[in-house]
Amino acid sequence: MRAKIVVLPGDGIGPEVTAEALKVLRRVAERYGHHFTFTDVPFGSSAIADGGDPLPAATLEACRRADAILLGAVGGPQWDGLPPDRRPEAGLLRLRRELQLFANLRPVRAFPGLLDASPLRPEVVAGTDLVIVRELAGGLYFGTPRGRSVHDGRRIAVDTLPYAEDEIARVARVAFEAARARRRHVTSVDKANVLHSSQLWREVVTEVARAYPDVTCVHALVDSTAMQLVRRPAAFDVVVTENMFGDILSDEAAGVVGSLGFLPSASLGEGTSLYEPVHGTAPDIAGQGIANPVGAILSAALLLRHALRLEREAAAVEAAVEATLAAGVRTADVAAGQPAVSTAEFGDRVAAAIA
Ligand code: IPM
Ligand code: MN
Repeated sequence: MRAKIVVLPGDGIGPEVTAEALKVLRRVAERYGHHFTFTDVPFGSSAIADGGDPLPAATLEACRRADAILLGAVGGPQWDGLPPDRRPEAGLLRLRRELQLFANLRPVRAFPGLLDASPLRPEVVAGTDLVIVRELAGGLYFGTPRGRSVHDGRRIAVDTLPYAEDEIARVARVAFEAARARRRHVTSVDKANVLHSSQLWREVVTEVARAYPDVTCVHALVDSTAMQLVRRPAAFDVVVTENMFGDILSDEAAGVVGSLGFLPSASLGEGTSLYEPVHGTAPDIAGQGIANPVGAILSAALLLRHALRLEREAAAVEAAVEATLAAGVRTADVAAGQPAVSTAEFGDRVAAAIA
């Protein structure tokens, strides 16, 4: 297979972890006889340095034309002073919105050899294997009116949480389809005891669920879900929720399995899909070569699976990550006092383990 992959390494540890994901993809191409081309284009802070716009038109166009997009992470304290729509994060949000990447899949698994990385007791975290399907193109992140103003000498800020029924239905269908390939259980998370948007969310998910009689669907409130994720993480299969709740719950789920560095994501829509680790730019450890590349490497596996339909290759990457972790190879974030390997060494080990 031939595939064109646009690479957006971004800021902080983004380039470091992305380099390892590319190493693994190159190894897959070699091993399985594929031809992948990787093109770096300006995005985030690199684009801001060029012309002020975190998502230049040419970058967006290159993304539209690609078979898949691999992204590291964007943002950092240097750009915190910029107006909100000029910050690197704004480029990421516009990219998601422009490509209508409405379904963000965030698989969360407890690796058997790594239960001690979790702050929870091993018997609580053991068996955790869930996927958060986060709505990614709507809700609080994009709703209008939004912004700031001054009224009667007081500073006012507003954000808006709108959802239309079709926006809810399309992401719900992704969740139910995902559940069919898993344990056939969907937890739809909302705040229907308070929010209008959540009441509509619950109504529409209930309607969509009728088309999936083979999948059980339960509704849960977001506050209670936050608690259950810590108490019984292994009880969840597919969790579907709106943009903001999904953002928060996915970091919590990462904490449950031991490190934000472990979580990959796939953002799917109608056009080109985007693959990025769930973690941010980690400015505190950037440039030291100690970041955990597992989230980035597993994002590359998701790229192989969803964008290129190379299931065997995706599974080979996941197996290589598991084997590497099972062999006790760990980056500093999860080394727990044992010797740690660098980001690049971890990537080498995974690449070498690709069957
Ligand atoms: C994520 C990140 C982004 C988000 C930020 C960087 C805008 O936290 O992908 O989870 O909030 O969606
Ligand atoms: Mn987040």
